[in-house]
Formats: sequence, structure tokens, C-alpha cells
Amino acid sequence: MDPEFEMKRTPWTRRFNERGALLIAIGASAVTLLATFSLAAVIRSYQGQVTIQANDSRTSLDLAATGKHLFLMNCAHCHGDDARGDEGPDLHNLHKNDMRIHHVITNGIKGEMPSFARKLNDSDIRALTAYIRSLT
Ligand code: HEC
Repeated sequence: MDPEFEMKRTPWTRRFNERGALLIAIGASAVTLLATFSLAAVIRSYQGQVTIQANDSRTSLDLAATGKHLFLMNCAHCHGDDARGDEGPDLHNLHKNDMRIHHVITNGIKGEMPSFARKLNDSDIRALTAYIRSLT
């Protein structure tokens, strides 16, 4: 090859190679950036779920704590302070669902247990139900 031509050609080729490398580098960092952002989005949505779950269990703990207070005020003199039973039965490990427990508290049991429909509102009874469900 003509050495003069070679001299002219080299800078162009190098420039091309440098530009090519630059383009590849830009492309690679764009891909990395995109990957980082989408990973961050995935992590963020995952963290969101975890937070919601934590809030849920926190709420049911609060509800059970409120229920315990209501229990001591309204029920403990028959069912015992620890709900282990006294005049009324032990309320641990009841094989009743929330609806049945809610129903018993609302309506009472004729001749055995008073109705609390007038004394307690729906959210009180839900709190009591959560407390009783937490007894194992
Ligand atoms: C006057 C006493 C008395 C009071 C007050 C009382 N209970 Fe009872 N409770 C009973 C008796 C007695 C029974 C059992 C009736 C039966 O088995 O026929 C019973 C049954 C229950 C049952 C059903 C248990 C089962 O095994 O099916 C639940 C739940 C319950 N009580 C919750 C409560 C809650 C909550 C309160 C307070 C809001 C409360 N009770 C207040 C006497 C009482």
C-alpha cells in the first residue's frame, strides 16, 4: 500500500474506532441505566407490598389490643381475665369463624350470656372478635 495513503487513512480509521467505542460505551451505559431504573422500580413495588403487609398486621394487632381492653371491661367477669373461663367458657382455640363470634357477642346466648348489641358498636365487636381470634 502507498505509505502516504496509509498515513492519511490511519487517523480516520482511528477516529472511526474511537467514535465506535464511544457509541458502544454510551449504549452500554444507557442499558445499564435502564436496567438500574427498572430494577429500582421492581424493588420499590416489592417494598410497597411489604409495607402494606406490615401495616395490615399492625392494624390487626391494634384491633386485638382494643378488643382485649373491651373484653376486660365487659366480658372478663364471666369468661375470666385471661379468657380461660369462669362462669362462661374458655374462649381459647374456638372453632368458630369471625361471623359466628360476632353473632354471639351481638345477640348473646339466651339464658347464658347477655346481648351486647346496645352496649357495643360494630367496630367494638370486631375488635373483640379479633382479640378472641388471637387467643390460642
Ligand atoms: C353473664 C356472663 C357472661 C358475659 C358478661 C359474657 N359472656 Fe360470653 N358466654 C357466657 C356463657 C355462660 C357462655 C356459654 C353459653 C353456652 O355454651 O351455651 C358464653 C359463650 C360465649 C361465646 C361462645 C363460646 C363457644 O365456645 O361457642 C363467646 C364467643 C363469648 N361468650 C364471648 C363473650 C364476649 C366477647 C363477651 C363480652 C363482650 C361475653 N362473652 C360476655 C357468659 C357470659
